[in-house]
Amino acid sequence: MTFRIDPATVADAEAIARVHVQGWRESYKDLLNPASLAGLSVEERAAMWKEGLAVRDPGTLALVGRTGEGEAVGFAIGGPTRSEGTVPLGTEAEIYAIYLLDRVKRRGLGRALMAGLFAHFVRRGFASAGLWVLRDNGAARRFYEALGGEAGPEQDLELRGQTVTEIAYRFAPIPVLS
Ligand SMILES: CC(C)(COP(=O)(O)OP(=O)(O)OC[C@H]1O[C@@H](n2cnc3c(N)ncnc32)[C@H](O)[C@@H]1OP(=O)(O)O)[C@@H](O)C(=O)NCCC(=O)NCCS
Repeated sequence: MTFRIDPATVADAEAIARVHVQGWRESYKDLLNPASLAGLSVEERAAMWKEGLAVRDPGTLALVGRTGEGEAVGFAIGGPTRSEGTVPLGTEAEIYAIYLLDRVKRRGLGRALMAGLFAHFVRRGFASAGLWVLRDNGAARRFYEALGGEAGPEQDLELRGQTVTEIAYRFAPIPVLS
C-alpha cells in the first residue's frame, strides 16, 4: 500500500474529521468510556477543522495522509508548544495530534507523518519537540519510543468527562527521519 502526504487545506476538513472520529473510536475503545466515544460528532469536528485550517499560523502544520486512490486515512498536526495542561511539556514544538485508521496502521504512514512534522519544526528553527499521549496507550508509546522519543512527566486531565493520565514524550534534538 502506498501513501501520499500533503499539507491539509480547508477542503480536507471533512475528510480529516471523519478520520479523527473513526480513529478515536477504533484506537480508544479500550481507553475511553463508550458513551464519550459514541458522542463524537463528525459535523462538530469538521467545523473545528474548517476554522483551524482557515486561520493557521505559519508555525503550525497539518498534514493529511492519503491512499493511492486519494482517500484520507490519517493526519498529523503540530506547531509551537501550547500551554494547556498543568505540567509544562518542556519542548519548543508540540505534536498536537496524529491519528490513523486501523486498516492502515503499521505500514509506515505514522512514521512518514512524523518525519514531515519534524522536518517542518527544524525548518522553523525549533530545537525540540514533544507530545502528550495517554499513559495506557501502549501502541502509541512504542511508536514514539521507536522514533527516539524519551518518556517525561505525567499529568491528569479531563477528557470528555473522564479523568485520564497522560505522559509526555520528548525529542531533543529533533530527529531527521528518512
Ligand atoms: C501511533 C500511530 C500514529 C503509529 O503509526 P503507524 O503508521 O501505525 O506506525 P509505523 O508503521 O510508522 O511504525 C513505525 C514503528 O513504530 C513502532 N510501532 C508502531 N506501532 C506499534 C505497535 N502497535 N506496537 C509496537 N510498536 C509499534 C514499530 O517499531 C514500527 O516499526 P516496524 O513496523 O518496522 O516494527 C498509529 O498507530 C495511530 O494512529 N494510532 C492510533 C492513534 C493514536 O494512538 N495516536 C497517538 C495519540 S497521542
